[in-house]
Amino acid sequence: MMNQTALITGGASGIGKETALKLASRGVTVVISGRREELGAEAVKEIEAVATGGARIRFIHNDVTSEADVKAMIEQIVAEFGRLDMAVNNAGISNETASVDLSDSSKFQAMVETNILGLYYCQKYEVQQMLKQGKGSIVNLASIAGINGMPWAGTYAATKHAVAGLTKSSALDHAAQGLRINGVAPGAVKTDIIAAQLDGSDPNYNEDVISAMHPMNRLGVPGEIANGIAWLLSDEASFVTGHILTIDGGFTAK
Ligand code: NAI
Repeated sequence: MMNQTALITGGASGIGKETALKLASRGVTVVISGRREELGAEAVKEIEAVATGGARIRFIHNDVTSEADVKAMIEQIVAEFGRLDMAVNNAGISNETASVDLSDSSKFQAMVETNILGLYYCQKYEVQQMLKQGKGSIVNLASIAGINGMPWAGTYAATKHAVAGLTKSSALDHAAQGLRINGVAPGAVKTDIIAAQLDGSDPNYNEDVISAMHPMNRLGVPGEIANGIAWLLSDEASFVTGHILTIDGGFTAK
């Protein structure tokens, strides 16, 4: 993976940061993007500490919900590093647990803007650049809630089903043009995004309930998801496109 450049959106925490650490340790130049400058700077230091082979690490302050800013971010990466080989569209939010009839419309709108439109903007400009290169590999973060139904999470599930549809369709559009576009569907993983479900403040979920939903009876850890993302990004997965890889302790096997 040497001499390659990767973008990981929302890469200053959780699954994104873990993926950044893995790629950098394999010599990939990594750009992480996000909205939190300080967290980004801390993550850069952490990732630099494991980087090999002259890999460079950057943080770009960026909100994926602005199409103009996303376009500018891709241009900035290409201006500095000359190309974009890999992209992980990882930035996402989960802001409510409720049945759809009782859900808050503005919270759903925020999830649509980040999880669907934000990912769409990123993939759109990544693909435009990768087509110029004739090669590229993209991984979009879906979810088990992008494959199965999820109690109390219908609005989030709607956004993640959209990610799966966009991923598979785009893979078909560009399969013969040197681009591979895949998704990863994690089960529940201990990161900030499910903090409310783990700290006891969410009436619909707690750690025992979430663990019991998974046949392995536990949550995943970010490294287990990063392993799958890194594999899909790499040439080891050279005949894989349009695939949504479940990494979920058996959740979707039920
Ligand atoms: P996380 O909350 O640590 O990571 C998400 C990152 O995206 C954060 O750094 C956040 O600040 C960033 N982000 C959110 N909105 C953004 C925006 N508008 N612009 C730029 N960055 C933004 O949580 P985690 O778990 O690492 O989430 C990564 C992805 O994995 C998300 O897409 C999530 O939906 C997905 N996922 C997570 C699961 C879990 O149980 N942790 C399960 C299935 C999917």
